[in-house]
Amino acid sequence: MPLTPEQEQIGRKNFSDAVQVSRRDFLAGATAGAAGLGAAYFGYQQLAGDPVRVGFIGTGDEGNILITQHPPKYMDIVAVADLRPTNRQRAFAGDGNEHRVGLVEKLGAEKAAKIKVYDDHRALLDAKDELGLEAVVIATPLVSHAPIATDAMDAGLHVLCEKLMAHDSLQCKQMVRKARDKNVLLAVGHQRHYSVLYDNANSLVQDGLVGDIKYIRAQWHRNNSFPGSDQWYNKPPKGDQVLTDEYVQQFGYDSLEQLCSWRLFNATGGGLMAELGSHQMDAASIFLGKVHPLAVQGYGGKNFYGVKGLGSKDKQNDPRDIYDHIYVTFEFPGPHYAEDDDDICVVTYSSINTNKFEPYGELVYGSRGTLFMKTEKEAMLWKEEGRGSEGGGPDQRLWVVSGASGGPVLEAYETSSGPAKAASGSDDWAENVSRGYTEEMEHFCWAIRNFDGNYYPGGKEIPVSEGGLRCNGVIAMADAVMAHTANLAMLHKNRIVFKDEWFDPMSDAVPETDSDVIG
Ligand SMILES: NC(=O)c1ccc[n+]([C@@H]2O[C@H](COP(=O)([O-])OP(=O)(O)OC[C@H]3O[C@@H](n4cnc5c(N)ncnc54)[C@H](O)[C@@H]3O)[C@@H](O)[C@H]2O)c1
Repeated sequence: MPLTPEQEQIGRKNFSDAVQVSRRDFLAGATAGAAGLGAAYFGYQQLAGDPVRVGFIGTGDEGNILITQHPPKYMDIVAVADLRPTNRQRAFAGDGNEHRVGLVEKLGAEKAAKIKVYDDHRALLDAKDELGLEAVVIATPLVSHAPIATDAMDAGLHVLCEKLMAHDSLQCKQMVRKARDKNVLLAVGHQRHYSVLYDNANSLVQDGLVGDIKYIRAQWHRNNSFPGSDQWYNKPPKGDQVLTDEYVQQFGYDSLEQLCSWRLFNATGGGLMAELGSHQMDAASIFLGKVHPLAVQGYGGKNFYGVKGLGSKDKQNDPRDIYDHIYVTFEFPGPHYAEDDDDICVVTYSSINTNKFEPYGELVYGSRGTLFMKTEKEAMLWKEEGRGSEGGGPDQRLWVVSGASGGPVLEAYETSSGPAKAASGSDDWAENVSRGYTEEMEHFCWAIRNFDGNYYPGGKEIPVSEGGLRCNGVIAMADAVMAHTANLAMLHKNRIVFKDEWFDPMSDAVPETDSDVIG
């Protein structure tokens, strides 16, 4: 959405003021104190006892972000494992990026030297007793999530697995069942569940501040069309060329090239929908009260890399097989859907590879206001202009006041507040807002130490309202079912109606084998 810097600043201040009037706060980590932002905000206590002894499996891009963000008061990294020598090294030395500083800088050389290193996840799991391992964090390619998580749970370890939960919907269900069976925690890394920014925004939405929501537009647009700019297309670096194709085949990859560029292949990844869209559909469904969608349709194509003369000199030899442009439309039930099936909210999602004019984010269009979540780090709010009312729109500063029915409502400052009004209120938080990674790891460790070792009372996950994981296996499974079904809708070029049993972990029914989907 093209906005001037002044309009963005007004939107941030409107949001900040609204949050202060509403019951939530704590936008910035600075206010959190020793226990950490997540503990202060989400209401769990600082970890009592020793930090949880954790092994990191997969120390590539994301594993290194998690290493940098991990909370040592809650989590003691005792081992790491990675197939690629360059990434084993990167886990310690970092790579010069402030988001991936490495264990030596994070923990100090002395502590880092005590961390054991393994060539693959099996070797790490075999050493679990000597390591005193309690849990693993899995940040490996999508195809390996289910097999590695299953091996870890069979070894009696708690699992925090990166998103998307698994390569297909049945694997997700089997992971949930395994966790219940082994009485170990299974958390999935959709970090927006632990983002204080998103939770604040969601509080405002649930309080009705933006009114009735009939449309959410989410997008993650990138421009990888310039030669050499596709960061998902990685040639094996020299340090990894010691690995043969035969070696990596044991772990589910056809070749070293596929291991290094796993996102580009349907056999190892889940395309733009799994990698990017799943985060944003997760966010949209949070704003809609975590309800399941009713239906999805969409178009996906290899419209750039697949076209001779555009992205590929030689179409036949371009290795990428995922769509490079996707556009999907989900129908969600509105709050009155049970009484009137016209109460629908549409969520559109697009991810393209040839234009990044707009920063990624989600726009929530309500009948009384508009909420814009920008790049996971900023939230902005504007009022809708009513007939004969004091104004609204992107230049308008707001008051949030108690409405006649007790809930908060948006009020304009004055008839036509210009950019100068943006001077009041503070939006300092926008600089140091946490994306939720640290809080997700803190809560995972806190949960391991609590609940008296019974993680599934009554055979089910402990509810979020009782302190349970905010992105447990069942919640993450729903995100995965949405992403996989959207991929099927694009593949088969049809509108797919979701079935309740696809969201039931105890049912084997999944969209991938449903005759209504595949014909
Ligand atoms: N939550 C987020 O915002 C976010 C962001 C980026 C990536 N991710 C997720 O993190 C995961 C990893 O992504 P990435 O970008 O780090 O990929 P990557 O390719 O950079 O790193 C993956 C690493 O896993 C290693 N690996 C594969 N199989 C292994 C095995 N059996 N044992 C040990 N190591 C193994 C690989 O050698 C590689 O170094 C993916 O699931 C991805 O979707 C999440």
